[in-house]
Amino acid sequence: MIVIDKVTDLRQYVKQQRLSAVKTAGRELSVGFVPTMGFLHDGHASLLKQAREQNDLVVLSIFVNPIQFGPNEDLDRYPRDEQRDLALAAREGVDVVFLPSVQEMYPQPTKTKIAVSELTEELCGASRPGHFDGVTTVVGKLFHMVAPDTAYFGLKDAQQVAVIRQMVDDLNFDIKIVPCPIVRESDGLALSSRNVYLSEEEREQALILSRSLREAEDWIKSNPAVTTDEIRESLIRNIKSQPLAVIDYVDILAFPSLTPVHTDAAINDLDVEILIALAVKFGTTRLIDNILLTTKGVATHV
Ligand code: PAF
Repeated sequence: MIVIDKVTDLRQYVKQQRLSAVKTAGRELSVGFVPTMGFLHDGHASLLKQAREQNDLVVLSIFVNPIQFGPNEDLDRYPRDEQRDLALAAREGVDVVFLPSVQEMYPQPTKTKIAVSELTEELCGASRPGHFDGVTTVVGKLFHMVAPDTAYFGLKDAQQVAVIRQMVDDLNFDIKIVPCPIVRESDGLALSSRNVYLSEEEREQALILSRSLREAEDWIKSNPAVTTDEIRESLIRNIKSQPLAVIDYVDILAFPSLTPVHTDAAINDLDVEILIALAVKFGTTRLIDNILLTTKGVATHV
């Protein structure tokens, strides 16, 4: 595994590997890419495993991207542990770790941004203005730097997956986007680098998120007539049962368009994939979680 911190070195390395694969093996190299902000956990490991299985060369980027954080968000205290990240990357068989500095990624304040409209106005986009412009701008830059064939993203950030797919389609990036299932702790908590912020009591109460999503899924499966309104209300009631939980949003939208679904329609009558998504604060930590369901209430990626 090699660690690269300069854009020119990264480009040259990937280009060189591609050329020598054609020369020596007489075939194209497949390059898989996993972009992250580091402080890696088993969720990232699952993306790397899939990338490893499906590609000749696996590139991991670790970069805490300042332009996707709002002024009052956690950029300064975002958890970092480079040595542990590199050990995990080596264990997962990563070939190249791209670890640029902020100066390397943004040598001058960027005057160019990639902004996906509509899909970024819902859910996290509504409560974190500018966040997705920061995400699409850095992912677009990383896609140009790495030039992968395939890129892997976790579905815990389902809105991010929808937004990046839209960007890739609209701007003709020749890159396949692979969404990967949410990875959970054994008690159900969705893995997130931000889980380390939680106190013991907050972590205990945060279990309500996965528990109430699971209950919603069971309810939809067992009661074909249940409406999106009823599901949303029951999720809100459940989450509010935990005194430390402060709801940012609980929403049910069509996926990947992120358009509203009829609130009084039975979920099983809807002819689209459904995203049930929530963001809830416990103390200063904002957690997100979701489930994706087909029209017949069957979980597609949990
Ligand atoms: O999901 C993340 O960790 C980040 O949003 C990403 C995609 C690495 C861009 O900074």
